[in-house]
Amino acid sequence: MNQDDMKRAVAQAALNEIVPGTILGVGTGSTVNHLIDLLADRVADIPGAVSSSEASTRRLQAIGIPVLDLNDVDSIPVYIDGADEVTPEGFMTKGGGGALTREKIVASASDRFVCIVDESKIVETLGRFPIPVEVIPMATSVVGRALGKLGGRPVKRGDFVTDNGNIILDIHDLRLKSPGDFEIRVNNIPGVVTCGVFASTPSNLTIVGGPEGIQAISP
Ligand code: A5P
Repeated sequence: MNQDDMKRAVAQAALNEIVPGTILGVGTGSTVNHLIDLLADRVADIPGAVSSSEASTRRLQAIGIPVLDLNDVDSIPVYIDGADEVTPEGFMTKGGGGALTREKIVASASDRFVCIVDESKIVETLGRFPIPVEVIPMATSVVGRALGKLGGRPVKRGDFVTDNGNIILDIHDLRLKSPGDFEIRVNNIPGVVTCGVFASTPSNLTIVGGPEGIQAISP
């Protein structure tokens, strides 16, 4: 099984987590793209979705699932999304695709977060994957200096603008012993929209794909 097969296998397994007849929260990325492709056979079960990116919105609409404004939705029982890194406790780094802010908003508005990853994403400590931070453009330099003081090496993602019109600083060379504290400290820097550490919104269930099949981890 190659990595793409594993992504498809976890997306397939996540279909069991959907609550038929309710609004589904949908993340962003190549793993979620498999999920959306598989949802084409479940359209009748899903009255609508709240999407975390313009890219996922287009893909959902293409298979006939209505995409709803979060402001018009009372309840999202399940949010399904990938991650760049996830710990056994369910802490994650997200935002490799730059959709971290909307992902965190939809995740926080949902009752359950189901994380779908191939086994390369499982780590003991977050930080090997550079940590994305979405930043208001005018604050790029000031936030970069503040992030440098935390010990990492922030690098502006070249030629990239988020769906919200902002830039991304990716923090390299940092290992997070305390993801919760880090998330709070970074999010308190003026100019930061949010950081890609998901400690306040951990996964409730992580479905992991490996060469031998899939495994579920409930923190
Ligand atoms: C999007 O901004 C990210 O948070 C993705 O969820 C994450 O990068 C995982 O993407 P893949 O499924 O493409 O690995």
